[in-house]
Amino acid sequence: MNAPTKPADAEALRHVRQPLPHDSGLKHVQGSAQYIDDIREPDGTLHVAIGQSPKARGRLLSLDVSSVRAVPGVVAVLTVADVPGKNDVSPAFGDDPLFVESDIGFVGQAVFAVVATSRDIARRAVKLAVMEIESEKPSITVEDALERGETVLPDYAFGRGDANAAIAVAPRNLEGQFHVGGQEHFYLEGQVALAVPGEDGDVYVYSSTQHPSEVQHVVARVLNIPDAYVTCETRRMGGGFGGKESQATQWAVTAALAAQVTGRPCKLRLDRDDDFILTGKRHDFRCDWKVGFDQEGCIQGYSVEHLARCGYSADLSGGVVDRAMFHSDNAYWMPAVHVGSKRLKTNTVSNTAFRGFGGPQGMLAIEHVMDQIAWATGRDPLDVRYANFYTRDGNLTPFGMEVEEIDTLHGLVRTLERTTDYRVRREEIAAFNASSPIMKRGLALTPVKFGISFTLTHLNQAGALVHVYQDGSVHLNHGGTEMGQGLYIKVAQVVAEEFGISMDQVRITATTTAKVPNTSPTAASSGSDLNGMAARIAAGAIKRRMISHAADAYGVPEEQIEFRDDRVFIGNESISFPELARKCIQARVQLSEASHYSTPKITWNREKATGRPFFYFAYGAACSEVIIDTLTGENRLLRADILHDVGKSLNPAIDIGQIEGGFVQGMGWLTTEELVFNRDGRLLTHAPSTYKIPVSSDVPADFRVALYPNANREETIYRSKAVGEPPIMLANSVFCALADAVHSLDPSKPVPLDAPATPEAILRACEALRGRPMG
Ligand code: MTE
Ligand code: MOS
Repeated sequence: MNAPTKPADAEALRHVRQPLPHDSGLKHVQGSAQYIDDIREPDGTLHVAIGQSPKARGRLLSLDVSSVRAVPGVVAVLTVADVPGKNDVSPAFGDDPLFVESDIGFVGQAVFAVVATSRDIARRAVKLAVMEIESEKPSITVEDALERGETVLPDYAFGRGDANAAIAVAPRNLEGQFHVGGQEHFYLEGQVALAVPGEDGDVYVYSSTQHPSEVQHVVARVLNIPDAYVTCETRRMGGGFGGKESQATQWAVTAALAAQVTGRPCKLRLDRDDDFILTGKRHDFRCDWKVGFDQEGCIQGYSVEHLARCGYSADLSGGVVDRAMFHSDNAYWMPAVHVGSKRLKTNTVSNTAFRGFGGPQGMLAIEHVMDQIAWATGRDPLDVRYANFYTRDGNLTPFGMEVEEIDTLHGLVRTLERTTDYRVRREEIAAFNASSPIMKRGLALTPVKFGISFTLTHLNQAGALVHVYQDGSVHLNHGGTEMGQGLYIKVAQVVAEEFGISMDQVRITATTTAKVPNTSPTAASSGSDLNGMAARIAAGAIKRRMISHAADAYGVPEEQIEFRDDRVFIGNESISFPELARKCIQARVQLSEASHYSTPKITWNREKATGRPFFYFAYGAACSEVIIDTLTGENRLLRADILHDVGKSLNPAIDIGQIEGGFVQGMGWLTTEELVFNRDGRLLTHAPSTYKIPVSSDVPADFRVALYPNANREETIYRSKAVGEPPIMLANSVFCALADAVHSLDPSKPVPLDAPATPEAILRACEALRGRPMG
């Protein structure tokens, strides 16, 4: 028998690229997947509720909790006086107190917490506190904050050339203000944590967080104990979407403090209304734009000022607004460009990460400007987009990074134009609209180019821990968290592939700071890029030691040893994988490895605005067709076609799920989800009764999603590309299609439509085009 040789086709992969179902898919639908609230509560578990500020801005003069304490079943009331360490749960800037000390920043801000024998008792008792507050007029809107000149972080800008001068001398120019709404995460599992006190003051925290390391570090900081005394475990989240990147921390810390003070396990689970009121959302923006262009619609100069409502503290607003700036160009070359930003401080809950992390806001603004140029020139919006695409000669972004995959961008969009019959349908829709005075159709095809990597360079690292046991089964752990996106299965596929063993031999285990320390949040879509690589490095190191042992033991060159089909082929012989594992242990070969990976090529220097913030870009495009009722503003998405670039997919089933889910979530953001704060800073839309997310019936009846055949030119895990966030921006096509439908009412006018394009907003835009503005 000849020694087995490597298959000629290096792509003969057994697990990677297979459309395997989510490892918990069955458990999700059966209801047997354990979330934190499903963990059997240890005997004596107490429950925590948050005492909230009724005012948006002012000073807390006094707090009387005596009647709270008097409620039977209340075990403790926690205020700032009970914080042994630093009264701060912020991710970086020290401006998020666990409990109000004096200054009040928003309605709902935590002033104290009640710990009681039941959740019901705790929730009723919090209402009995008496707070004396000297209140001030709050800043609610971007305009309020501009007037006061209050920001949470310094302004920041970058660009190239003299944009204003280029706009002034261009044959045509336009300017406007474009509002982009925020978005509530509406993860199915709300914020929750369970803290169990241990020995010598240590504490074990189960947290529904995208960032277990940060929970660990902040618990330690607030409780005034060393990091090593805190363990944070996250098996899964019922959705995070960025809302649990920094803002799961506060609830975990409160539970941990309650556990420290009472010596008993403590659980905090926010009620849905409270979750809306107490946690940050996607930043809403006002984008002040100016553009100069020629008769063809080619941009000669673009200037945009991103005015972001950040809420009362910085949280992640630095990175979020930077990413909006990095996506102000989307797929378009701008010879002269200025991108500015203000991180405005308002007396609303601190806005935070949300899928796309600011990118969607920046990108929607330029797509709106593309439409404005189309309306002004009378050209088809797709042709205006093509006229401005990055090319080999114009491939430098406003931040100085080169766009290297020009062919991917052009090829992908041209392909989608063809497969959607864009031009034919454009004609059909024009004919339909000409004969239909009330119902109007609209069509739009928009591209996505999204930068992959954390723009905070040091976050681009990950670790993994892999053990091979004597029976050949493999224990897999890494720093990434599972929030439904399918990270765990992808990384397990990579490890099973490396060892040539079947998937059921790889045991996926909960993320914990005790196994892999000092991790980054699972965010920026980089979970599988980072953790997939780290896990492959760990498995590879173990495999190399196993090969080396087999080579010695059998006297066979290492090149003739291959791991495949749950066996190890050693020259002319083969043994099972478990057999080799046992032999290695007998021979004192280490079958465990902790690994580390850091992303190469990232060189961004924010101060100088030079270098490369992203390892690569992910691309996509979507074509949406809508119909609107111009008398009511009601609308439907009739058909959506998506072509998206995930490089060479690790798991096409998971990736398509991410694309579909991201698109529908983006559609909700741009069409039905509207956050309304009143002048007192109260969030009026704090439940599903007033805040409308998409449901299955909003998914278009004709929904065609395909992966663009591509390979990552960079050395990523199996040449795949990140997929978590980019698809949300495919929904820009829905917004632009709605504007296109309104535009048919009077093609001589621009469409005054902001996001979200709710039925009310669409109706207002229709009436404006009919020359009877609704005010
Ligand atoms: N998909 C599901 N089902 N649930 C989620 O919470 N979060 C999104 C995206 N897809 C999310 C999701 C966000 S905001 C990010 S950054 C990525 O998943 C994070 O996971 P990844 O880096 O492993 O793609
Ligand atoms: Mo995603 S917004 O980076 O958690």
